[in-house]
Amino acid sequence: MEKLKLGVLGSGKGSNFRAIADAIAAGSLDAEVRVVLSDVENAEILALARERGIEAEFVDPGRFKTKLEPEAEERIVTLLRRAGVDLVVLAGWMRMIKAPLLEAFPRRIINIHPSLLPAFPGLEAWKQALLAGAKETGCTVHYVDPGMDSGEIIAQSRVPVLAGDTPETLHARIQEAEHELYPAVIRKFAAQKG
Ligand code: GRF
Repeated sequence: MEKLKLGVLGSGKGSNFRAIADAIAAGSLDAEVRVVLSDVENAEILALARERGIEAEFVDPGRFKTKLEPEAEERIVTLLRRAGVDLVVLAGWMRMIKAPLLEAFPRRIINIHPSLLPAFPGLEAWKQALLAGAKETGCTVHYVDPGMDSGEIIAQSRVPVLAGDTPETLHARIQEAEHELYPAVIRKFAAQKG
């Protein structure tokens, strides 16, 4: 049976990537990370991938802050295709994605977001939840579309907001849930492939 081949895109510390790679190493996720790409040259996620012997590459995003220059998006498509990727996994990726990447992997790009979407899309969703006085928040895995955190929801995990929570404690609790949810969702994609 052929393994599900993953391409991971991340801009930051890569804890979700690590959870996925650890699940694969532990034998609880039958998949393979073929390539990790980042728009941030010194992102921790690239170092984590290299430590594991996984191809990791910085892609210069160009002059925009929240999206990619078309050439950068083309480059990402080329690298993902070259690596034979079946499923593109956004893990702390901080830019909007458009055609041609969306068109190259239709319903094959997923993201994890730190809230129970459609509540609190956008940046620092855990802070938004605290400010709104929410009693409960969580995380969502969804398909990526051209909007911001607006694609079809695949799975969610609930996390309580506790008295005395700071943005940091709440985000840490949400991340623990993310590290369970993301490998579990990818496991389902892997089962469909097999
Ligand atoms: C996570 O909270 C994820 O929900 C959001 O960005 C953060 C990435 O964390 N999209 P990490 O880089 O995986 O540690």
